[in-house]
Amino acid sequence: MRSDESSFRLIPFRQEAAAKILAWVGSREELGHWCGRTDYPLLDPSVFHSWHNDPEVAAFLLEDGRALVGYGEVWSDHSEQEIELARIIVAPEMRGLGIGRLLTQRLVQFAEACELGPIWLRVAPSHQRALRCYRKLRFVRASEEREARFNAPQAVAYVWLRWRAAGVGVQPPMEPS
Ligand SMILES: CC(C)(COP(=O)(O)OP(=O)(O)OC[C@H]1O[C@@H](n2cnc3c(N)ncnc32)[C@H](O)[C@@H]1OP(=O)(O)O)[C@@H](O)C(=O)NCCC(=O)NCCS
Repeated sequence: MRSDESSFRLIPFRQEAAAKILAWVGSREELGHWCGRTDYPLLDPSVFHSWHNDPEVAAFLLEDGRALVGYGEVWSDHSEQEIELARIIVAPEMRGLGIGRLLTQRLVQFAEACELGPIWLRVAPSHQRALRCYRKLRFVRASEEREARFNAPQAVAYVWLRWRAAGVGVQPPMEPS
C-alpha cells in the first residue's frame, strides 16, 4: 500500500466521477469482469443512473486524499436477506497495490453495518487477479450446490465467495492461485 490506509475514504458515488470510472475499463474482457456487459467501450455515463435507480443498490467511491482510486457497489437483497458486493474496480495505475482489497474491506464494513445477512461476491473463474485480491480477505468459496443454484440464471459459471465474519470458526483456505 503506497499511502497510509487512513488517507483512503469511502464516500457516496458522485455522478461527476462517472466518465472517469468508465475510462478505467481497458478491454471488453475487463468490462465483462467488472459489470457483466459486452458492449465495450462503455462510454455513456448515464449507465450509472440506471444502475443506481434500484433502491437496493448503494454505490461508493474510494478516494485517496482528493484522488479517485476506486468504485464499488453494495446490493442489498431484502427478499433473500443477502448482500452482494459488486462492480468493484480500481484505477488502472493503482492496481496491484492492495487497494482492491482495501476497497473490498470498506464495502464489507458498510455491508456488515446493514445487518441484512450473508455477504457475497461473484468472480469469473478465469479472473486470477480478482481471486488473489479477495483471497487474503475472509472470503470463502460457496458449496458446489450453492454455486449451482446461484449460477443457474447466469450466463457465466461464476466462483461465489462468501464473507466469513470475524470469530466465526476457523478461516478456511481461499481459492487456489
Ligand atoms: C480486480 C481488481 C479490483 C483488484 O484490485 P487491485 O487493487 O489490483 O487488487 P490488490 O492489489 O488488492 O490485489 C491484487 C492481487 O492480485 C495480484 N496481481 C496483480 N496483477 C495480477 C495479474 N495480472 N494476474 C494475477 N494476479 C495479479 C497482486 O499481486 C495481488 O495479490 P497478492 O497480494 O497476493 O500478491 C482490479 O484489478 C480491477 O479493478 N480490475 C478491473 C475490474 C474488475 O475486474 N472488477 C471485478 C472484480 S470481481
